[in-house]
Amino acid sequence: MKPTPLDPHNPTHARQMAEVLVAGFAYLGDFGWADMASAEEEIEEFRQEDPPPIMLGIWEGDTLLGWIGGLSAYHGHTWELHPLVVRPEAQNRGLGRALVADFEEEVRQRGGTTIHLGTDDTHGQTSLTDADLYNNPWQHIRNIRNLARHPYEFYLKCGYAITGVIPDANGPGKPDIFMCKRVAP
Ligand SMILES: CC(C)(COP(=O)(O)OP(=O)(O)OC[C@H]1O[C@@H](n2cnc3c(N)ncnc32)[C@H](O)[C@@H]1OP(=O)(O)O)[C@@H](O)C(=O)NCCC(=O)NCCS
Repeated sequence: MKPTPLDPHNPTHARQMAEVLVAGFAYLGDFGWADMASAEEEIEEFRQEDPPPIMLGIWEGDTLLGWIGGLSAYHGHTWELHPLVVRPEAQNRGLGRALVADFEEEVRQRGGTTIHLGTDDTHGQTSLTDADLYNNPWQHIRNIRNLARHPYEFYLKCGYAITGVIPDANGPGKPDIFMCKRVAP
């Protein structure tokens, strides 16, 4: 299944993008998009973006199975990958990897060299939860373990490196994990 461009101004695209956000991040509770209203606000932010964001989706018939978005940063040198989501029932079929690959190609075509992203650990899914990340952070990062299918491991498989953390980003002991990939020389 091939990713194709999504248009946040198209009501069908926008509604399904919001639905996939709610369904895909339900496992995070209030740290995800708890309802359609908050997900639709997120889509509205994409409509306001200048330069236009990258938005790609994979469809099965009339159903959007997953999508990826990205915003230009640092004068276009880097793009922030945000968000990436696949409907729970469509996960583990290679859709996430396909979305990331085509996103990287889009970034290259727009002259970007680097993709960056933050992947929060809000639910004790990695060994960085409750670690003292101010004290020798690189030792904690080097020894990171995935305790409950945190997506950082998906990104490692796609060639991303952990380049840092924000300790306590989501409350005490709940860090954000930063990852980057070079996509052009
Ligand atoms: C993370 C996510 C996008 C991955 O998409 P997917 O379509 O299920 O992933 P793929 O099938 O393309 O998986 C590619 C590889 O990553 C692995 N992988 C996928 N999710 C993983 C996870 N959470 N933990 C560890 N490995 C994972 C797969 O096993 C596969 O490995 P393999 O190539 O060795 O077989 C999807 O699980 C999702 O939408 N999760 C909920 C939303 C979310 O957390 N988004 C990321 C926020 S930063």
